[in-house]
Amino acid sequence: SNKAIILIGGPSKGTRFRPLSLDIPKLLFPIAGKAMIYHHIEACSKIPNMSEILLLGFFQENQLSSFIESATKQFKIPIKYINEVKMLGTAGGLYHYRETILQNQPENIFVLHSDICCSFPLGDLLRFHLENQRICTIMGTQVSKEYANQYGCLVRDENTLELLHYAEKPETFVSNLINCGIYCFKSQFFDQIGKTMNDIKAQQQLQLQQQQQNLIEYPEIIRKGTATENLRLEQDIFVPLAGTDSISVYLYNGFWRQIKNAGSSVYCQDLYFKHYREHKPEILKSGENIIGDVIIDPTATIDPTAKIGPDVYIGPNVKVGKGVRIVHSIILDSSEIKDHACILYSIIGWSSSVGPWARIEGIPNYTPFLYKEDKRKGITIFGSGAQACGEVIVYNCIVMPHKQLDRNYTNEILL
Ligand code: GDD
Ligand code: GTP
Repeated sequence: SNKAIILIGGPSKGTRFRPLSLDIPKLLFPIAGKAMIYHHIEACSKIPNMSEILLLGFFQENQLSSFIESATKQFKIPIKYINEVKMLGTAGGLYHYRETILQNQPENIFVLHSDICCSFPLGDLLRFHLENQRICTIMGTQVSKEYANQYGCLVRDENTLELLHYAEKPETFVSNLINCGIYCFKSQFFDQIGKTMNDIKAQQQLQLQQQQQNLIEYPEIIRKGTATENLRLEQDIFVPLAGTDSISVYLYNGFWRQIKNAGSSVYCQDLYFKHYREHKPEILKSGENIIGDVIIDPTATIDPTAKIGPDVYIGPNVKVGKGVRIVHSIILDSSEIKDHACILYSIIGWSSSVGPWARIEGIPNYTPFLYKEDKRKGITIFGSGAQACGEVIVYNCIVMPHKQLDRNYTNEILL
């Protein structure tokens, strides 16, 4: 059988998702109308003999339980949350919970990062993985040279398709083939992780002994040297295994993007919409005042004179008034957009309101793969319950929850 593990991390890493991560964990933020990791789970559910999907991270369980319950029901695959208690690193949790992961002897284990969007070609990845017979396959994709070193960089032997060299976010250019954060492992790969973990522990033990011999006068220093369980898949496992005939690299040519901050979900939504246009156009809305790719929840009420699209998602119970214009935006549950308001490149959080003739605008930054934030360019984001009065102009701002805006603002974070 097959299994999948989604590395979901924890709340400490969601800071760049503020203010939206104040309401729900980043991995549940809706992109193209579905939770960020719904897209991962949907792809996993299409793999035959998928026995279980495990979410590995350190969020509070109750923040995830209703999502897990409904996804389990929809996809009819057991989905379980494993709470790491403390941050163990991208491989530490895989090692620590290996018994749970290897329960019922899965042959192939997919591991996916939560904070990425792509078409998740897991079937193709699996076929490639089985053909190449190595204990690990990394999905790689090509990005332009100037962004490559923000990622794990891969050097592949084009004849054997083996990973020859791995450099995690190198300072200098290594390769424009980068690690997508999607892997397929044989169960034996976990032995390899275990071996590495033991090597690291043995090394730490040795250092500790040396310290004890040299520093008997400073016992407080000795105590700090105790072994850690943190293990990084990239630097601790892939780097030493590269070039040992253990890892293959599958080349993926479709769309791929990281979701590091709230604004990037607007661009990821565009990518998913384009994908839907080709693969399941039936979920996109059409109509006289609908332009391009749009999804509108059936419980939303939209005035027929409002013009929506391209690339807009409108959530449940949203109200959109007369003459409203919405472009490249995400409007979340129960918000109200009053008559003639205009919304461009923005995310309007839950239960927010935008007054008549207001203009809420972000500045798109289409530089792909740039995850360092450029303060001069950004999607405008309203935290939940934020309110803009009629006629105000809000340009390139981040608005904290429940804030009321009664004048114009440009390039500000509104606390
Ligand atoms: N369970 C768990 N525990 N998950 C974690 C932990 C941890 O301690 N640390 C990170 N994660 C999860 C994150 O939630 C995310 O889904 C994924 O692991 C990777 O996150 P980061 O550690 O922030 O790494 P990165 O995104 O900067 O870079 C990684 O991903 C790139 C692709 O998106 C690296 O693997 C790069 O090589 C890769 O190119
Ligand atoms: P460690 O060896 O684990 O310390 O990691 P590293 O890959 O960062 O260090 P290494 O000594 O291998 O490389 C020194 C510098 O060259 C670092 O800036 C690396 O990012 C970079 N580098 C690593 N591998 C390559 C490579 O294959 N080509 C090029 N051009 N640079 C590389």
